[in-house]
Amino acid sequence: MATSTEVASHSRTNRTRTKGAESAIEARPGVTIWLTGLSGAGKSTIATTLAGRLESTGSRVEVLDGDEVRQNLSQGLGFSKIDRDLNIRRLAYVAKLLTRNGVSVITAAISPYTDTREEARRSIGNFLEIFVNAPLDTCIERDTKGLYRKAYAGVITAFTGVSDPYEPPTKPDLELHTDRESVEESVERVLALLRERGYLAGLQAA
Ligand code: ADX
Repeated sequence: MATSTEVASHSRTNRTRTKGAESAIEARPGVTIWLTGLSGAGKSTIATTLAGRLESTGSRVEVLDGDEVRQNLSQGLGFSKIDRDLNIRRLAYVAKLLTRNGVSVITAAISPYTDTREEARRSIGNFLEIFVNAPLDTCIERDTKGLYRKAYAGVITAFTGVSDPYEPPTKPDLELHTDRESVEESVERVLALLRERGYLAGLQAA
């Protein structure tokens, strides 16, 4: 049977542990890392690699990818401004809920309109806008999903960058140049920004 001294010391240890866990959570506020850029600019690739790095530090991470959100939350929406805005507002709403619960959220949607991205920033609060910038010619060359070919052939209409607008961020928190940086370099730059803004106190560079 445990003596009263042992019990007291055990519960002190538990209290210390609980306190430690609380301060770990406090030290890591949630944040939304909002990746914006053309189709094929590299948003999803950066999101996946960044998520892996954050997870390895013990952060709770969620990636909200445009294609996936459209298959689930935004099924049936098209690519008019009204539909894109609705899609982005839904995405921002989920990101807000996760962020306020301490999750590091990475969104990877084209999000072509400045006003809608600014609306997301205002509603989420802890928000970093990251412009995943690759020149249109590079995206066309990559044509990872074969969609640019279809857009130029007129098979797909209102395609971002070809027949629909993309408004580049004028003051992003960070701009990545995926045509001349490796994925690892881009991800390191995002991690450095997170550290600088106090979202990742303890993370060491790779
Ligand atoms: S957004 O404009 O509403 O932010 P989102 O990122 O969700 O777009 O979806 C873009 C993805 O939908 C593209 O990566 C591509 O796979 C697909 N897509 C299909 N049609 C279009 C289109 N007309 N314009 C842009 N993307 C399209």
